Parts: sequence; structure tokens; C-alpha cells
Amino acid sequence: MTDHLTLVTHPLVQHKLTLMRDKNTPTAVFRQLLREISQLLAYEVTREMPLTTRRIETPLKEMEAPVLDGKKLALISILRAGNGLLDGVLELIPSARVGFVGLYRDEATLQPVQYYFKVPTELEDRLVIAVDPMLATGNSSVAAVNLLKEAGATNIRFLCLLATPEGVANMKAVHPDVPIVTAALDEGLNEVGYIVPGLGDAGDRMYGTK
Ligand code: URA
Repeated sequence: MTDHLTLVTHPLVQHKLTLMRDKNTPTAVFRQLLREISQLLAYEVTREMPLTTRRIETPLKEMEAPVLDGKKLALISILRAGNGLLDGVLELIPSARVGFVGLYRDEATLQPVQYYFKVPTELEDRLVIAVDPMLATGNSSVAAVNLLKEAGATNIRFLCLLATPEGVANMKAVHPDVPIVTAALDEGLNEVGYIVPGLGDAGDRMYGTK
């Protein structure tokens, strides 16, 4: 993957995303759709995982067959909405290692502050996929990737459901080496930092907290 931004325009992704955006979609359906969409997005974000071959025997003959190469990849959920993407991707790649980054926004400075950080060992040898459904201002994504790089990660991808031009530009300015995969690039942000048209607060819609 060389482009900084990949838009996944597959009809199934777009259809499911429309259902998720609809404010009348209930919590349980929203969560199920997010799980389904995350697996389709995972297909794209893992497209360039390295392969090697292994000698196996089919019922008919021996062959050199492709298998994944290298260390298990690391999935990093940016709490809390990241968990919605994490669950589906983990179903598709059950042997992945999992980490969590917790950030909250300081209301005085508007800057992200870390409250939790736990990631797999040997990050430097792994493909690291950070997941967060909403790439809004990009401030927390930039901060999360900073933390992952400080922990040794060198091969990082960012997986989200919706992004804004501002968020993508912010990420590209600080982390041009981190490709972003998303289902849609929305118009922008409203005055309180929500993505427009967006889908509302992803965490609240996933967990029914509003
Ligand atoms: N986080 C969300 O959950 N929704 C937005 O629109 C922006 C950030």
C-alpha cells in the first residue's frame, strides 16, 4: 500500500455504512453492522501482508502452498469505540495480538491525554493496525500513533470507518508513513468536533450510552 488514503468503495461496505449512519438504526443492529464492516475493511488493510509457502499434501498431491509470513500482527484498539472494529477484525485474524490505547480530551487544552496503554511486545517486528471508527480532528489518532512509535512500531496502518479531510491532513502531516483505510471521507467537522454528516458518537451508538 503506497497511497496515504484508501477509500473502500465496495458496495457491501457502502450499504452497511448507510444503515449505520441512519439515526433510527438500533444499538444491537449498529454493533452487528460494525462487526461485519470491520471484516470487509480488514480485507483491505491486510492486503499486503507478506506470504511464504509451506509444503502440504492435498488428498491428490503435494504442493507448496501460501501461508502468512512473519510475526503475528498487532491490533491496537483506540478506546472505547475502537473495540467495535477490533471485535470483527479479531474474528477474521484470531491469532493477532491485541493492544489498547486510552486517551481522553483535556477540556482546557483540547489535547488528548493518555490514561491507558498496553500493547504487545516486539511491536517493531509486527504489522501494527490501529483501529478507531472515527478519524475526526485527527488529534487523538496522531497521539495514539505517537505512542505506538515510541513503543517501537515502525510498520503501522490506521483503520477507520469515517474520516474527515482535516483528520486525514493532520495524520498525513505528522505520520505520512501511516496509510489510512476508511469506508468514507465525509464533509468535515461541526463546531463541537463531530463528523458531518457522520453517524453521531460511535461509542454511544455501539453501547447505547445516550
Ligand atoms: N467521535 C465520534 O464518535 N463521532 C464523531 O463524529 C467524531 C468523533
